[in-house]
Amino acid sequence: MKDKMAIIGAGGHGRVCADIAKLNGYKEIIFLDDGAKDFSGEYKVAGKTFDFEKYIGEYDFFIGIGTTETRKNFFDLLEKSGAQIVSLVHPNAIIGSNVEIKKGVAIMAGAVINTGTVLSKGTIINTCASVDHDCTVEEFSHVSVGAHVCGTVSIGKNVWLGAGSTIINNIKICDDCFIGAGAVVVKNIEKNGTYIGVPAKIKN
Ligand SMILES: CC(C)(COP(=O)(O)OP(=O)(O)OC[C@H]1O[C@@H](n2cnc3c(N)ncnc32)[C@H](O)[C@@H]1OP(=O)(O)O)[C@@H](O)C(=O)NCCC(=O)NCCS
Repeated sequence: MKDKMAIIGAGGHGRVCADIAKLNGYKEIIFLDDGAKDFSGEYKVAGKTFDFEKYIGEYDFFIGIGTTETRKNFFDLLEKSGAQIVSLVHPNAIIGSNVEIKKGVAIMAGAVINTGTVLSKGTIINTCASVDHDCTVEEFSHVSVGAHVCGTVSIGKNVWLGAGSTIINNIKICDDCFIGAGAVVVKNIEKNGTYIGVPAKIKN
């Protein structure tokens, strides 16, 4: 770990990531962002996203973008360019034994990840969300604020579980799904799409 961190994206999600980076011991934290005006907060917008190459070597990197496709595109670009992408885990998250956390994962305050779970690269476990034992969360999926994933659930790639949604135990959700806020998933989802309601059904 270096003591300097460059975060791609200075939106709300990026700024939450910056606060975690600070708690993880980074001494200097900068943002690279194409749109943000320099806000008077603690961290500086040092340049545009494509300025990232200037910082390779001296800085660790994190992709602080919530939108799945944009996060994945930057992740792939930075990885190919040799940037050191790290994970950020809030000190008030609870991480069980034998939890595997791959590269570029964000775990926010109050999240609980229980034993045997694997979080693949670029995933987000947001504030007060939980992922119970023996789950897999595949690449670039996002467990939103207050969502709960019960034991032995398998979540595909690029899946977004909306705020407060619940996935009961032993469920499989295929790639590229969006689960609406507050939905309860009680059956496997085998066709990509948006699912809402209790029990969750595909949204037409
Ligand atoms: C599911 C979702 C993507 C649908 O968005 P959308 O396609 O723009 O849908 P709309 O807002 O146009 O709503 C269409 C209909 O679905 C209903 N609906 C929307 N979201 C719903 C949800 N989560 N549960 C139940 N019904 C929902 C609306 O009430 C509306 O019903 P109506 O036609 O009877 O009025 C969105 O509402 C949602 O749940 N987003 C989650 C956001 C989130 O959790 N963010 C987390 C950030 S950490």
